[in-house]
Amino acid sequence: MRLDKFLSVTATATRSEAARAVRAHRVTVNGEVAARADLSIDPIRDRVVFGGTPVRYRAHHYILLNKPSGYVSATEDGKDPTVLALLPEKYTVLGLFPCGRLDKNTLGLMLLTDDGDTAHRLLSPRRHVEKRYLFRAEHPLTEEECSRFRQGLVLEDGYETKPADIELAPDGMSGVITLVEGKYHQIKRMLQSLDNRITYLERISFGPLTLPPELSRGEWRELTEEEEAAILRAANPENKEI
Ligand code: URA
Repeated sequence: MRLDKFLSVTATATRSEAARAVRAHRVTVNGEVAARADLSIDPIRDRVVFGGTPVRYRAHHYILLNKPSGYVSATEDGKDPTVLALLPEKYTVLGLFPCGRLDKNTLGLMLLTDDGDTAHRLLSPRRHVEKRYLFRAEHPLTEEECSRFRQGLVLEDGYETKPADIELAPDGMSGVITLVEGKYHQIKRMLQSLDNRITYLERISFGPLTLPPELSRGEWRELTEEEEAAILRAANPENKEI
């Protein structure tokens, strides 16, 4: 693989940033300063260091984003900015997409990846990957409504939701909802079917991933190696090797 391509696919630099760094002698391969950006390297075996930082080769990228309000969970939109607009250019060229959807005004944890197979598995209704949301409703919920929520509700289009969990805070109108599926506007529609309305919604976990408290709204980071291993395990629970 060409050195500049390697730096691009690892989201270390765009191709032009890579070329500039090579010209400035800021890239080494196996301890030698790289003379050319089109140098052929072995992405697995060769040790590439960019501006003093070793570059880890990865087949795929997994980005954890703290989604702010006002961004749509899509790769393109004619009207609103997409969550991809929150990433620097060296990531936007990688073909990342949101793994699942959050509404434009929903906040919190979003996984972005270019690993279609893993995303597909994580979103498959068969896997029952848990998603937890902090919520606030317009009116307090009764115990009887919470039981209906836990048993599964019939939405306005006749869809019967899988049992979901709801833990109420002492105010009776906020708390944590846990879903094992992800239908369009699901929580909002579940509350609507109880003649109530969501006024705040924030995803705080997705399978083994939890929203890190230090990640401010609009901020993102690559998954750590442990998080990446955990998400691959959640996508492939039957594969003991991962
Ligand atoms: N349920 C919703 O209604 N909206 C979201 O964004 C996520 C879950």
